[in-house]
Amino acid sequence: MTIFDEIESEVQSYARSFPCIFSRAKDEHLYDVEGHAYLDFLAGAGTLNYGHNNDLLKGALLRYIEDDGISHGLDLHTRAKAGFLEALNSTILEPRGLNYVVQFTGPTGTNAVEAALKLARNVTGRETVISFTNGFHGVSLGSLATTGNSHHRGASGVSLSGVARMPFDGYLGSDIDTTAYLDKVLSDSSSGVDLPAAVIVETVQGEGGINVASLGWLKNLEAVCRKHHVLLIVDDIQAGCGRTGDFFSFEAAGIKPDIVTLSKSLSGYGLPFAIVLIRPDLDQWQPGEHNGTFRGNNLAFVTATATLEHYWSTPDFAKSIKRKGEYIGKRLRHIASQYGDEQFQVLGRGMMRGLFCVNGDIAGKITKAAFERKLVIETSGADDQVVKLLCPLTISDINLKKGLDILEAAIKEVCRAETKIPTPTDYFMAS
Ligand SMILES: Cc1ncc(COP(=O)(O)O)c(C=O)c1O
Repeated sequence: MTIFDEIESEVQSYARSFPCIFSRAKDEHLYDVEGHAYLDFLAGAGTLNYGHNNDLLKGALLRYIEDDGISHGLDLHTRAKAGFLEALNSTILEPRGLNYVVQFTGPTGTNAVEAALKLARNVTGRETVISFTNGFHGVSLGSLATTGNSHHRGASGVSLSGVARMPFDGYLGSDIDTTAYLDKVLSDSSSGVDLPAAVIVETVQGEGGINVASLGWLKNLEAVCRKHHVLLIVDDIQAGCGRTGDFFSFEAAGIKPDIVTLSKSLSGYGLPFAIVLIRPDLDQWQPGEHNGTFRGNNLAFVTATATLEHYWSTPDFAKSIKRKGEYIGKRLRHIASQYGDEQFQVLGRGMMRGLFCVNGDIAGKITKAAFERKLVIETSGADDQVVKLLCPLTISDINLKKGLDILEAAIKEVCRAETKIPTPTDYFMAS
């Protein structure tokens, strides 16, 4: 029996999928205590876009620590915070014509979402927030109310209120634009849906199963929000920081959200850090209204600044993400056609990709077989039916190919062992 079995809570999740003890990590590799190397296609659930212990970020962090730079700073003005704000403004916001103020929240994604929801409600004086089927925005109560997953919602112990759910893009089939339905219910005073404060959306749903909103749907969503004077919040906690090919996942759609949440890969080093970007006229917070002891993780400011300076000051990094993303898509399409288009569907955008496997049992067998071959890769979706590829954006071409080769070998093994893998038709008939 290990110390983990002895005294760690049953709430563990990822640890159950990868039963070994990890001790070191570098770039796209994790190493266990016995020295085995694993390719990491989980990357801290999208937190390690720049890999583990990235040398460029580590150098900046070590220099800062060596210099006795402030590490914890509440919301005090510090040199590290100024550096981050300047880099964010000059490398990300200004070049994109985005005018936002920055709120530093508690360092988890869910705390940024809580802040965004509170602000939207307080500014508009309305309670309802629209969120989407299969959306995931965190597990603290306010965020959880906007989250779809019943497993997480079931743990709340209180009613989750103030949210109306709308079908995400594709939920009712590829030929139905669900923003038309949203427009209809907001136009109809007897629809039963109160005029909301805001709509909160992920452009690519990460935990919900790599469901991609089309760029046209996002444009229509923005138009519906504008028409009804409803705020648009893009939760870019997982899809942002380059994951889909641009710094923000909504850039390709040419939309300008009123509020944006960022966390996960923002620090680039796995250091907890979250912010809310707010249209300046909406910044109606009273001092300290949304408080938090850990709003000033200065070590995270330093590494975040280094990510912006090293990776986002030229278009090269974005180009490399798009190139690698296309390669992943091509390989997955080949796998799907090789082992059955009926059984697998390729999902995703940029380097946020998924392979839909008709049910969670098959997907789980694939990720297990991959782990046996030293590839760390997880599932997502309502029934964990999507194998989710989130390797570091900085992965070398050779290791990207190697990881996909391992995944393909795992799929081959699972397909060989299954006498009949159900098709999507079987799946929908059964559910
Ligand atoms: C889109 C999105 N929003 C919010 C969260 C919550 O972030 P955290 O787990 O840091 O609270 C997540 C986490 O996976 C996420 O993917």
